[in-house]
Amino acid sequence: MVGDVSLVLTFADSGARALANTCRHRGHELLPDGGASTRRAITCPYHAWSYDLSGALIAAPGFTEVATFAAAGYPLVEVPSATWHGWFFVNATGTAAPFDAHIGGLDELVAPYAPESLVRRARHTYEVSANWKLVVENYHECYHCPLIHPELCVVSPPTSGDNYDLPGAWVGGSMDLAEGAVTMSISGESAGVPIPGARPGKVEYLGLFPNLLISAHPDYVMTHRMVPLAADRTWIECSWYFADAAVDPSYAVEFWDLTNKQDWGACESVQRGLRSPHFRPGPFAPNEDAVHQWVTMIGRGYQGVAPHVRD
Ligand SMILES: [Fe+2]
Repeated sequence: MVGDVSLVLTFADSGARALANTCRHRGHELLPDGGASTRRAITCPYHAWSYDLSGALIAAPGFTEVATFAAAGYPLVEVPSATWHGWFFVNATGTAAPFDAHIGGLDELVAPYAPESLVRRARHTYEVSANWKLVVENYHECYHCPLIHPELCVVSPPTSGDNYDLPGAWVGGSMDLAEGAVTMSISGESAGVPIPGARPGKVEYLGLFPNLLISAHPDYVMTHRMVPLAADRTWIECSWYFADAAVDPSYAVEFWDLTNKQDWGACESVQRGLRSPHFRPGPFAPNEDAVHQWVTMIGRGYQGVAPHVRD
């Protein structure tokens, strides 16, 4: 479900597709919203119109004797989708920019890590009492790091790094690892193996509009995927991906679970503060330039400008 758009995702030999969960007969939902099926055909529970996994209509009971009826005229509506480094993206409303324009220059930063070749070894979910955009704002600055992330500051100087200014609907930058640290972990040590193609000594923090944060480390890639539950509540899935399928991921999970919870506490406090009638917007510090880029993208988006379009 994306807004008012309910979709059926199908996975067949011909590839993955996103189809409207709306029967071409009377509009009945094909699957309960959020439901799943392992069947090779999708049958509407209302009048039994059936579709194959490409969305083609293969049965319409009662229409066989209707000479003017052509099943080819009633496929499920397909919306644009794309698979990128293992992630599946759906243009749910059909109104977003072409996927290549949406990704822009992000591919050259993510491709060397070959996330599609990595194995997910850990997954945590969180529910945060804050708007999803506040979570992204928090992600894109380390101004707050010396105050709430003492463990992070040991392995990565909070003043290090630079932000990128490349095409695409994303914001991000890199930070340096401290001398003696090979990754982001409590000790700075890694229990994994380097990802071929990763940048040693660097961590990339990349936020793809709208809801995927990609943190690429020398030895693992971590993602945050956000789903808004309400204006002030967000579900977040944090995943850790490694080159070594047998690795014990706890060194990375322990570090980021701690850091995540420190961040969620800050986001929830900001959410409460924003609710006050006495909140007034304040200025961005120079090292909050990525947050400025992000809120500018959002503000322009509310005015109808596609998120990949820059001045
Ligand atoms: Fe933080």
